[in-house]
Amino acid sequence: MMTETRLEGIDACVFDAYGTLFDVNAAAQHCAAELGDKWQPLAELWRGRQLQYTWLRSLMGTYADFWQVTGEALDFAMDSLELNDSVLRERLMELYLRLDTYPEVGNVLRQLQAGGMKTAILSNGSPKMLQAAVDNAGIGGALDAVISADEIRIYKTAPAVYQLAVDHLDIAPSRICFQSSNAWDAHAASNFGFRVVWVNRFAQTRERLPGNPDVMLDSLEALPALVGVAAS
Ligand code: LAC
Repeated sequence: MMTETRLEGIDACVFDAYGTLFDVNAAAQHCAAELGDKWQPLAELWRGRQLQYTWLRSLMGTYADFWQVTGEALDFAMDSLELNDSVLRERLMELYLRLDTYPEVGNVLRQLQAGGMKTAILSNGSPKMLQAAVDNAGIGGALDAVISADEIRIYKTAPAVYQLAVDHLDIAPSRICFQSSNAWDAHAASNFGFRVVWVNRFAQTRERLPGNPDVMLDSLEALPALVGVAAS
């Protein structure tokens, strides 16, 4: 990974959704009163299985949309922790539709757009989930496109998912800067040909996968300056 302070020639900033813009732990955390010390293990199991199920289903050729996968992952997580509570399950799923946004997200998107950058989400999330999260965060006006893998019924890390951003925005991969807090996603996007910022929010260890993210940041705060958009 380079220690560049500037990425030149970028026309669009494309963002992963879950973990990058929206706090995936927020649903379980908001139920901490009911879950007690199980909220963190639940959040981790839920997210872990959600991701594994997307990869496994993509390999098996048995696509189901991200809402279904998220529900099935939650069922596994609750079962593992011996939580048998259908009301709590519904509440957690409902909370997933309005996850908290990381604090810098709104300002960064608006700053990028004001600076002439195209902005988009590219996510495994289903269109319904992404729309709900975007509306709840009030960031729709700062996004030129919200692109879902659901369009081609396969999940990241399939290169065809990253290609969707190229096709929707009509911008070459080398002029797109892709942001993800998920290291596996950052590597796959770099391997595809995007310039990549790994938003390492959780101080995770570097993955040993193809692709080489260009820059690592600990939040999105420094992104506008990195891609040459002056503070407004
Ligand atoms: C996304 C998940 C996988 O694509 O973080 O938004």
